[in-house]
Amino acid sequence: MLRNFSLCKFEILITIALFRNKIKNTMCNKRNRLLVFLFCTLLLAHKAVLATPPDEGMWLPILLKELNEEDMKKRGFRLSAEDIYSVNKSSMKDAIGRFGGGCTSAIISNEGLLLTNHHCAHSYIQYLSSVQNDYLKNGFWARTKSEELPCPGLTVTFIVSMEDVTKKVLENTDNITDELQKQAKINQNIAQIEKEASKGTHYKARISPFYYGAEYYMFITEVFTDVRLVGAPPEKIGQFGGDTDNWVWPRHGADFAIFRIYAGADNKPAPYSQTNVPYKPKYVFPISLQGVQKGDFTMVMGFPGRTFEYLPSQDVEMNVKMTNPAIIRIREERLKIIDLAMRLSDTVRIKYSAKYAGISNGYKKTTGQLNGLVRLEAVKRKQELEAQFQTWANTQGEPYKSILPGFANVYATLSKLNLASVYINEAIFGIEILNYATNFIELEEIAKKENSTDHDFEEAKRKIASSVHAHFKDYEPRVDRKVMTALLQIYYENTTKDAQPTIFTEIEKKYKNDFAEFSKYVFSKSFMTNENDVNKFLEKTNKKNIQKLLDDPAYQVAKSMWNKYYREIKPEYDKLSAEARRLNKIYIEGLRKMLPEKKFYPDANSTLRVTFGIISDYEPRDGVRYEWFTTLDGIIEKSKSLNPDYEVPEKLKELHAKKDYGRYGKNGVLYTCFIGTNHTTGGNSGSPALNRDGHLVGINFDRNWEGTMSDIMYDPAKTRNIMVDIRYVLFIIDKYAGAGYLLNEMKIIE
Ligand code: ARG
Ligand code: ASP
Repeated sequence: MLRNFSLCKFEILITIALFRNKIKNTMCNKRNRLLVFLFCTLLLAHKAVLATPPDEGMWLPILLKELNEEDMKKRGFRLSAEDIYSVNKSSMKDAIGRFGGGCTSAIISNEGLLLTNHHCAHSYIQYLSSVQNDYLKNGFWARTKSEELPCPGLTVTFIVSMEDVTKKVLENTDNITDELQKQAKINQNIAQIEKEASKGTHYKARISPFYYGAEYYMFITEVFTDVRLVGAPPEKIGQFGGDTDNWVWPRHGADFAIFRIYAGADNKPAPYSQTNVPYKPKYVFPISLQGVQKGDFTMVMGFPGRTFEYLPSQDVEMNVKMTNPAIIRIREERLKIIDLAMRLSDTVRIKYSAKYAGISNGYKKTTGQLNGLVRLEAVKRKQELEAQFQTWANTQGEPYKSILPGFANVYATLSKLNLASVYINEAIFGIEILNYATNFIELEEIAKKENSTDHDFEEAKRKIASSVHAHFKDYEPRVDRKVMTALLQIYYENTTKDAQPTIFTEIEKKYKNDFAEFSKYVFSKSFMTNENDVNKFLEKTNKKNIQKLLDDPAYQVAKSMWNKYYREIKPEYDKLSAEARRLNKIYIEGLRKMLPEKKFYPDANSTLRVTFGIISDYEPRDGVRYEWFTTLDGIIEKSKSLNPDYEVPEKLKELHAKKDYGRYGKNGVLYTCFIGTNHTTGGNSGSPALNRDGHLVGINFDRNWEGTMSDIMYDPAKTRNIMVDIRYVLFIIDKYAGAGYLLNEMKIIE
């Protein structure tokens, strides 16, 4: 599964040479024997080179010394594992912060300046923007610290230390045979250990499972809560290329934004206050203007979200045949409807821009992933590995011997439930009014519970009331009604009766499956289509009178879906998933025994990881080769097309025309982005890209179209991560935005 997929040219040449010799002469010929010996020695030596790391892998900082340091050095790294992760001295890990819940950021000044992606900052920039101060459109630059803008809710989390706690977590769980009960005990242990570890400190402790629960690590973290926006380029620069270029190389976005962390007078995390001071970090990344070259070592440190590299073939097959096509079909329909509505109205365009970007980001990634899995013949490759595993397991006996038959058993049922689960999650909860209606289920539950109080009910109401405005600010019922019509139809046509909630029987009977008529009815009668009616409902309703809710057609549909999913599908699904996880845990354990020479890495799980590789071009398809870098010239070239995603501010064109690149350009060229073989995933956005001396040379922000299947199967020939060149970032700050004063805080290596 994890071998090098491309046969190298050198190996092919040797094989051909050997073959030719074999035909022309006999092997008894002495001269030829010597030749063969020499070739074989060369081949072995070459194999040894190949055995140096393929760049696949997201490594745990704590294990780098033991597992990776040597490989990293072979690749060109000039520092040591201790420089990356140390508990005794300040190290790089002290300057890597988890940005919000889903991105990464890096400290670049002694006064707490923080670098991340524009797309990671997008929602905060949008929150701070208004029609008068449209920071998305125009960008934002604080000229003094007092102009920096607080971002409520934004946190940055640093890792203080990490520790293997497997033994403690699994204490007294050996004899529990029921998987769900065992998990409950494990969770109890985890809660206890976390509580003890953080007692009496301002730190938080979090334990995460690795290798499906074969190992557990505890992370002690420090969470900063006063984080302010310092600067961001206009969206047309920061996310240049928009949806057209998303998940695609060649790329030209200056996908960056700058924040500053503030702390209390004691340099510890503190809630926002005017008296807070810039955080004094333990480690700061120096920034190098030297750029990178093809073949150079690069390293990316950050918080990758989730990968699934050790799935059995059945799961991959389920993804290829069922999950991905369903997601693509459903999202395509949603995007078509929303896109048209956005084109017809500016109000709708603004309301749906972030939602559209979210749906489209997932849609596009799923499409790329599916293409990649099919191209790689991922299912077949998995099956080949499994055949090898079974042969080995037969010699080992239990528990390994029956793992693969176990998978076959579980997935026979799991894949059926999966279809319903994907459709409910994508189609049904993709209908906004239904998704929204599920917030009200708690009211019904409290009203029907015997020992509940009025206070409980009022609390639940308050929770709903607090987000009514936020929901309706970006909501357009006429768009949602069309989505409902389309998605109900898709659901109906692509699932079997047993996967459908009871409401479909009614739609069949009363509406002869006219989903448009049915949606019209729901939207004309429901109180959940506008802010006023919801507020009125919340004012009038009390624990004894929830009839209006029970009569609401949107609520009824949502409830029917909810019951189907949470009462019928999910309990069974969870049980089977728990069994699949148990099997997967033993499967990986077996693979590690079967392949003792191979270095294994755990799937991504939002914990701190290091990935390293080299700067490298690639061949997206036969006959085409993509360069490993892009330049400002490419932005200007793209801007000449009619695609609005390629519009670019005039000032950038002027700077280009004057070739006014200062120290950021080289021989009249301004480099914008570059790619490498680093193994990254969602969550790695905003991660610093570091060179062999640990200097920051770029920011990771995406992957290439041909490589998006790397969450399930990495392909060294095609998987590339996309980074913005730090010289382009500094150019935008200094020359475009005139905010060069920020550079005075940074440690810049010319
Ligand atoms: N593909 C990037 C990553 O998954 C996000 C890019 C955001 N930009 C966009 N045009 N949607 O998250
Ligand atoms: N764009 C992704 C992110 O936001 C990165 C990736 O999936 O490669 O984390």
